[in-house]
Amino acid sequence: FSLKNFNTFGIDAKARQFVAVHSLDDLKTVLEEHRLENKFILGGGSNMLLTKDIDALVIHVDLKGKKVLGEDGNHVLVESQAGESWHGFVLWAISQNYGGLENMSLIPGNVGTTPIQNIGAYGAEIKDTFVSCDAMNIETQQMRTFTKDECEFGYRESIFKNAEKNKYIITSVVFRLTKDTHKINTGYGDIIKQLAANSIENPTIKDVSDAVIAIRQSKLPDPKELGNSGSFFKNPIVPKSVYEQAKANYPEMPHYVVSETEVKVPAGWLIEQAGFKGKRFGDAGVHKNQALVLVNYGNATGAEILNVAKMVQGAVFEKFGIAIEAEVNVI
Ligand code: EPU
Repeated sequence: FSLKNFNTFGIDAKARQFVAVHSLDDLKTVLEEHRLENKFILGGGSNMLLTKDIDALVIHVDLKGKKVLGEDGNHVLVESQAGESWHGFVLWAISQNYGGLENMSLIPGNVGTTPIQNIGAYGAEIKDTFVSCDAMNIETQQMRTFTKDECEFGYRESIFKNAEKNKYIITSVVFRLTKDTHKINTGYGDIIKQLAANSIENPTIKDVSDAVIAIRQSKLPDPKELGNSGSFFKNPIVPKSVYEQAKANYPEMPHYVVSETEVKVPAGWLIEQAGFKGKRFGDAGVHKNQALVLVNYGNATGAEILNVAKMVQGAVFEKFGIAIEAEVNVI
């Protein structure tokens, strides 16, 4: 079974067996029946690079549905099943005038995988509105609710990438959104510029969403047209001393302070300076508008993309002494 249409990189890797599940009961049955087999859980396939065929039963989590659980004052609790598309969910929230997700418009992938790496963009992360998620234990099929604290969210991090890695399937997520009065977040420079370009002074959540969509479309390739997984690397967080050493040679290096001892450096800048922006090697390459994104021009294999990633990492380390690590899950 080819997974080409089930991963946004568009890699033609094969699965030994594939099943899509549409209900919790289905999921439980499939897990019980395949107890002893290797299993591979697939959501929207937007954050992984398949470098080989998957010798496992691939379970595509296709649980659908969203509903309002309750309201209190200016807030509403909304639950989405894991298989809903993230962007579809964001647009639905905006159409109901529910605020808090608009800065994360147009991120590819499904709702169920958003907590795994605490997705974020343009000044917001899902941890800001996340309340809890339900998940099924793959071994025991027991359901468990993870509160926000239990998820141990960090920058592109959660317990699902660490202590509980590969142990649970997230089946639904609850968010706490604003109802009437919204907290408009235009802190990320690009958003203000985009709004100003359209002469918008008092933006609504829809205006912010439209601005984010416009910015993303101008920089980030649409996976339907050009295979990719968004940012391939994380922005490295380095000790101040490492940053200062690199900065001595490259005074124009941008950075954001994250704590008294650490700074975050945009990996896109490092990669661009290392000369890789827009570089193409066969069908694998570095995107021309955003160097943090690796792309598949058509028939690249996962191994070819990984090879480009390694060249990029090597060149950045050589030039700046800074190691950049993959954000995407390399399989
Ligand atoms: N930059 C360059 N050249 C490039 C790309 C970036 O010099 O080719 C520099 C510029 O100095 C720019 C800075 O990097 O000002 C930041 O660039 P941008 O605003 O595009 O954001 P980013 O740090 O490259 C992160 C997220 C994106 C998210 C944007 C906006 C990570 C790994 N990536 O990228 O998330 O959309 O911020 O918030 O944190 C994703 O995770 O898949 C993703 C696309």
